Amino acid sequence: MAPTFLVIGSGGREHAIAAALSRSALSPVVHIAPGNAGMAHDPEITGRCFPVDPGDHGALIALAKSLPATLTIVGPEAPLCAGIVDAFALHDLPIWGPTRAGARLESSKTFAKQLMQAAGVPTAPWHAFCALSDALAHVRHAPHPLMIKADGLAAGKGALRCDHVQQSVEALTQMMQQGRFGAAGERVVIEQVLTGPEVSVMVMTDGQHIIALPTSQDFKRLTAHAGSPNTGGMGAISPAPHTSTKLVTLICRDLIAPTLAALRERGIVYTGFLYAGVMLTPQGPRVLEFNVRLGDPETQAVLSVMSADLATLLLAIMAGDASALPAQLGHSGAACCVVLAAPGYPASPRAGGRIVGLD
Ligand code: AMP
Ligand code: GLY
Repeated sequence: MAPTFLVIGSGGREHAIAAALSRSALSPVVHIAPGNAGMAHDPEITGRCFPVDPGDHGALIALAKSLPATLTIVGPEAPLCAGIVDAFALHDLPIWGPTRAGARLESSKTFAKQLMQAAGVPTAPWHAFCALSDALAHVRHAPHPLMIKADGLAAGKGALRCDHVQQSVEALTQMMQQGRFGAAGERVVIEQVLTGPEVSVMVMTDGQHIIALPTSQDFKRLTAHAGSPNTGGMGAISPAPHTSTKLVTLICRDLIAPTLAALRERGIVYTGFLYAGVMLTPQGPRVLEFNVRLGDPETQAVLSVMSADLATLLLAIMAGDASALPAQLGHSGAACCVVLAAPGYPASPRAGGRIVGLD
């Protein structure tokens, strides 16, 4: 019987996931919760959108049971960090993504840094602080530039580059005293700035075996002008320049595998997508961040070029067959995703604007 998938989320990334699943040779039915108007009207998507809040685990469990969903796939990080996988597991419902404990790789930068340090994974030298006075004392003597990062979830906007002490003092005061990122900024990680091209390496894993998707690179600044602010991502290309099969093998072996092993040592078998933001420094690849989901907007580009059948891969890994899958998935051609943003983005986007002319 053809499988039924339930995709949780409502953005371009989830649209790309639902469309890729719908293209499968398995002819699945692909439903989305909550989805958006674009997905609801996309003839490529074989199911429908259900107006369920991704934060309402009880309602999602009821929906997955009623469909019934062969597999639920979680798009964004918030439900993962809130423990949706643990909640589904209590009902024996198959779901793709890490547990809440595994999702700490993204929900706490301090946890991710400690884990990388314990596992010997190359990353920027760092310090973590809970008290503003200690953080201020550190930056007054530390060589600049520095990256100052909110420990918790900040929608990709919680990392600030500070070129002088005064900027660092301001960033720390905003985060730790004025609540710029809410509770996420009560604790901070301060790291050395690294230089080099960036590449996003996204993999699928059962906690041990690693299957790498085609590489990608996102464009973080609002415009090409120097000094233009960082955003959640204005676009992406796949495959990424500066990469090769050999480089991806090295990144999987030296950066991702030891991280999964360190998680296993802590009793966490990490299942799902894992995103490593990697900087290719002159000293070799360094992890900038881990995300416990697919990247946005990288996914839109990656799933356009990926030759493999996403639905078949997910079901094989869930069935325990990850060891039989290739270590790197092939691609054909190249793709570029361009994000259109509302006026005022990212500081204060004007919401509610109409998108017209798509036909
Ligand atoms: P993060 O929130 O940790 O993902 O950081 C967001 C972005 O800031 C990264 O994708 C990089 O573009 C940049 N970044 C983060 N850490 C560093 C670092 N140590 N050196 C240089 N750039 C960084
Ligand atoms: N494009 C960066 C991210 O998804 O976090």
